[in-house]
Amino acid sequence: LKSRIITIDGPAGSGKSTVSRELARRLGWSFLDTGAMYRALAFAAAEAGQDLADEKDVAKLAGRQNFEFMPKSEGIKVFLDGRDISSEIRRPEVTASVSRIASSPLLRSLMVEMQREFAKKAGDVVTEGRDQGSVVFPDADVKFYLDAAAEIRAKRRAAELEAAGQNADFQEVMKAIEQRDRADKSREVAPLVCPKEAVIIDTGNISIKQVTEKMLSELKEKI
Ligand code: C5P
Repeated sequence: LKSRIITIDGPAGSGKSTVSRELARRLGWSFLDTGAMYRALAFAAAEAGQDLADEKDVAKLAGRQNFEFMPKSEGIKVFLDGRDISSEIRRPEVTASVSRIASSPLLRSLMVEMQREFAKKAGDVVTEGRDQGSVVFPDADVKFYLDAAAEIRAKRRAAELEAAGQNADFQEVMKAIEQRDRADKSREVAPLVCPKEAVIIDTGNISIKQVTEKMLSELKEKI
């Protein structure tokens, strides 16, 4: 039996991570947070003192180190050579540097390979990111695109940072979100786009639960 794939793409703070986790839980499927993979590599490269602009060196490092991604109900746990780096990869300096990794064709091709490998082994999977429906799984069974106004997304990010005990100045968070939108939408390889067959959901004024319910009712018709 061929395993099924649901992709969820959208900009930072659109609710993808929480919603994909919740949807996977409701369906009893695996889930994949591909942003965590880009973040883990950015973190590992910076820690090793590598120049993120040198994609060949970063690719070598990616081959040498062992990354593990373990989906948990509270979020994905990420291990680098056995060390838990789940909270480190969410730090603002990592967030700001990921676009260097994300704009490299070589590093993206490594990530895409890892993501397809994961899907092969994971059975039915909900996967979220920026290019899951457009590039990585063009034949996905159902594609969603989540979006919300930048101000709402920035408010969510600021609240998340505060909940994690990190300082969050709203204006700075807003600026960082806008910068990331620009970088993600304008890069040459696999820019963030809304796949034309995707179901678009504006998550601005509805709860996670409502988004998940909307998705489940779409899925009833499609899967
Ligand atoms: O979703 P998250 O904020 O964790 O993603 C971090 C960054 O990783 C994004 O801003 C984007 O530049 C990159 N990314 C990507 N393609 C994906 C997932 C994330 O380029 N599929």
